[in-house]
Amino acid sequence: MKKILVTGVKGQLGHDVVQEAAKRNIEAVGVDIEEMDITNANQVRDVISNGNYDAVIHCAAWTAVDKAEEMVDACRKVNVDGTRNIAVVCKELDIPMMYFSTDYVFDGEGEIPWKEYDERHPLNVYGLTKYEGELEVEQLDKFFIIRIAWVFGINGNNFIKTMLRLGKERGSVSVVNDQIGSPTYTYDLAKLVMDMIVTDKYGVYHATNEGVCSWYEFACEIFKQAGMDVKVTPVDSSTFPAKAKRPSNSRMSKEQLDKNGFDRLPKWQDALGRYLKEIL
Ligand SMILES: NC(=O)c1ccc[n+]([C@@H]2O[C@H](COP(=O)([O-])OP(=O)(O)OC[C@H]3O[C@@H](n4cnc5c(N)ncnc54)[C@H](OP(=O)(O)O)[C@@H]3O)[C@@H](O)[C@H]2O)c1
Repeated sequence: MKKILVTGVKGQLGHDVVQEAAKRNIEAVGVDIEEMDITNANQVRDVISNGNYDAVIHCAAWTAVDKAEEMVDACRKVNVDGTRNIAVVCKELDIPMMYFSTDYVFDGEGEIPWKEYDERHPLNVYGLTKYEGELEVEQLDKFFIIRIAWVFGINGNNFIKTMLRLGKERGSVSVVNDQIGSPTYTYDLAKLVMDMIVTDKYGVYHATNEGVCSWYEFACEIFKQAGMDVKVTPVDSSTFPAKAKRPSNSRMSKEQLDKNGFDRLPKWQDALGRYLKEIL
């Protein structure tokens, strides 16, 4: 593996994947909408075909979950058509493609961790388009689908940055306590991504940081580790009616990581601590 293309380089994950590749002496070319609008099939074909890439790591996406409920076509264009445009060229060139998906492909019923090959049944438009993107990627022989959740990275906005801001501005926050999942630190994920892409252990994986929590518990830990005295009130999702329905159970099994000999990501509290050191 000498040269890879990374889409969504201006986002949280794409940024960290390019950084990690550089540490491993793999040439990573990062592109975003300016260099390669993934909804433009011709441009996608030109960029990928002319770059002599050994793999494509596809981090670009429409990630505005609530906005997707009203802008269904625009979201589908990026997450489904955009993903197909890349998949088609990767298939023709016979190079592997890595795609990032989400816990939102599941309906969140029950309390058992979702296994990688469980039936998918998304509850909202974003989840549906990410699921349809998975179907496009599954057309390839050489693909990785990595489902992640509650993503945070240096390069972009996320729950942690929002909590720190609200905590500072208001001194108190109300946070939902009935959605359980695991945060994913892009710095940790990027290492796994680079471990994986040099192998032929294709398939579907879950790769969040270890351990589970509710958003309320996540917020409490953020303020504790940041040394901020903020009152956090646990509330039900019904208190904050969002446009897009969220799954209540986002626990993710790591069976496929274990089976294929990949390291699980560190505990989420540890990831949070390292992240806060970077941004505070
Ligand atoms: N964030 C989460 O909590 C989360 C959870 C589960 C899974 N994921 C998945 O993980 C992956 C990485 O997420 P992330 O948080 O790093 O995303 P992000 O920060 O939102 O970055 C996505 C990047 O893709 C770009 N993009 C949007 N439309 C594009 C287009 N037509 N052509 C080219 N680039 C385009 C975005 O540009 P603009 O900013 O200008 O739109 C942005 O720079 C995505 O596949 C996402 O679906 C994310």
